[in-house]
Amino acid sequence: MLQIENIRKTFPGVVALDAVSFSVKEGEIHTLLGENGAGKSTLMNVLTGLYHPDRGSIRLAGEEVHFTSPRDSLSRGIGMVHQHFMLVPAHSVFENILLALDGVPNFFKRREWKAKIQALIDEFQLDLDLDTPVWKLSIGAQQWIELIKLLMRDCRLLILDEPTAVLTPQEANRLFDVLRRLKEQGKSIIFISHKMREVMAISDRVTILKKGRSIDTLARGEFDEARLASLMIGHDRIPEWQKNLQMSDEIVLTIDNLSVRNDRGLADLDKFNLTLKKGEILGIAGVAGNGQKALAEVLTGLRNATQGRILARGEDITNSNARRSYIAGIAHIPEDLKAIGIAPDMSVDENLIMKSFKNGAFRTWIFQDKRAIRRNAEEKIEQFAIKSGPDGTPVRYLSGGNIQKVIIARELSEEPSVLVALYPTRGLDIGSAEYVHKVIADGADQGMSTILIAEDLDELLKLSDRIAVMFRGRLIGYADPRSTTREEIGLMMSGENRNAGSAA
Ligand SMILES: Nc1ncnc2c1ncn2[C@@H]1O[C@H](COP(=O)(O)OP(=O)(O)OP(=O)(O)O)[C@@H](O)[C@H]1O
Ligand SMILES: [Mg+2]
Repeated sequence: MLQIENIRKTFPGVVALDAVSFSVKEGEIHTLLGENGAGKSTLMNVLTGLYHPDRGSIRLAGEEVHFTSPRDSLSRGIGMVHQHFMLVPAHSVFENILLALDGVPNFFKRREWKAKIQALIDEFQLDLDLDTPVWKLSIGAQQWIELIKLLMRDCRLLILDEPTAVLTPQEANRLFDVLRRLKEQGKSIIFISHKMREVMAISDRVTILKKGRSIDTLARGEFDEARLASLMIGHDRIPEWQKNLQMSDEIVLTIDNLSVRNDRGLADLDKFNLTLKKGEILGIAGVAGNGQKALAEVLTGLRNATQGRILARGEDITNSNARRSYIAGIAHIPEDLKAIGIAPDMSVDENLIMKSFKNGAFRTWIFQDKRAIRRNAEEKIEQFAIKSGPDGTPVRYLSGGNIQKVIIARELSEEPSVLVALYPTRGLDIGSAEYVHKVIADGADQGMSTILIAEDLDELLKLSDRIAVMFRGRLIGYADPRSTTREEIGLMMSGENRNAGSAA
């Protein structure tokens, strides 16, 4: 149904796509795989008409097309679920879907439309109430809305750019069920993900992109995880690291009976207790939405507690602000990168020193020392292999994974005593994810303590010294990663507390 040939797309100083060719068949799930900055998102933006290619052709059912906008491609049945949803929070689910349709139907037709949308929701057994305002919904539910919008527009080709990065594993499985059903109806899907397990589970074919070129396309049966990884990584080496098994007994952080309420007056943290030792990697397991974000925000001075205390090396830092928690040596890798992790219009260099610009190192008298700032950036760009484009590029032009790397490099550059990391490897390719693991493990060797909030149990089991399990804002118990199975932790995540405190 779709044929892309020899596409090239450059930005000032960057060749984002050099030569990309691949095709999509009717009723197939076609995965695009490639390192951070390989050109996946750019390619999808070219395909949907957001960018115009410098060269190359796009054919739909044999006929060459030149889309000039996403509206244009949508009218030809190609729709994309973007990483950052385009929804109006105060409006209901129904109203948001209506807004996406060509011309809002008149008042008398609303019931008819509502019934149509409800039929779709029922058909795919989605857990979605049409009258709920969008701000009340989880990210997973918001993604259903984006998908329904495209289905209501009768899209034949659906593009999903890292849809599972923001989903819990359970939500991701639900999404895959829906994608398989869509495929059975003859729809085609382009899927992007860095999670090999998912790629293996869902793909009919996989096209590998490397540095803006399509390297190869493999059909199911021709690929396994190792083959895909080696094609994607090429000669690059995956960083290696080892965990230090010795740990001091010194306690650097104590959370005592802490409660936090959200805007709706519900308890996000409910009499929560935790201790963190020097050099410890403390994994926090739990289904997303059980208080992990509140925990990170209250520790980093972004939210206030209604009850309880936080002690950092004996000093009470409860309800202090972000600057004070930074001075207390607490660094933060946030969940919502674009909203609170970066200043999108400022350059990579500036973003990298955003927390330390008051330091003598980046100043001469009252002026910024541009050369020192540049040197620092060069160092970090090399160390974290950040694909950053020419000097002075605003950070928002970087690929998703490279923005993540900028934040991690900045947060670790001040040698924090405590790192609070929410999903730090989300959206990173295999090599980059391993590098971040290495940085956290090496940091632990140097005495840095980490609170690692992650979804992936394999990641938690591999890195953590202890795993604390959260459920509904409470600490369910601790698990020892050396003697606990994935299944046992899974049970605790659903609120069961059989071996509570076994590794405390
Ligand atoms: N509007 C833009 N202006 C300048 N450079 C851009 C722009 N959009 C993308 N790029 C550059 O193009 C390259 C490819 O980026 P792209 O976002 O397509 O990567 P990706 O494969 O989606 O990576 P990721 O897995 O990290 O999301 C990157 O080097 C990026 O910095
Ligand atoms: Mg991308």
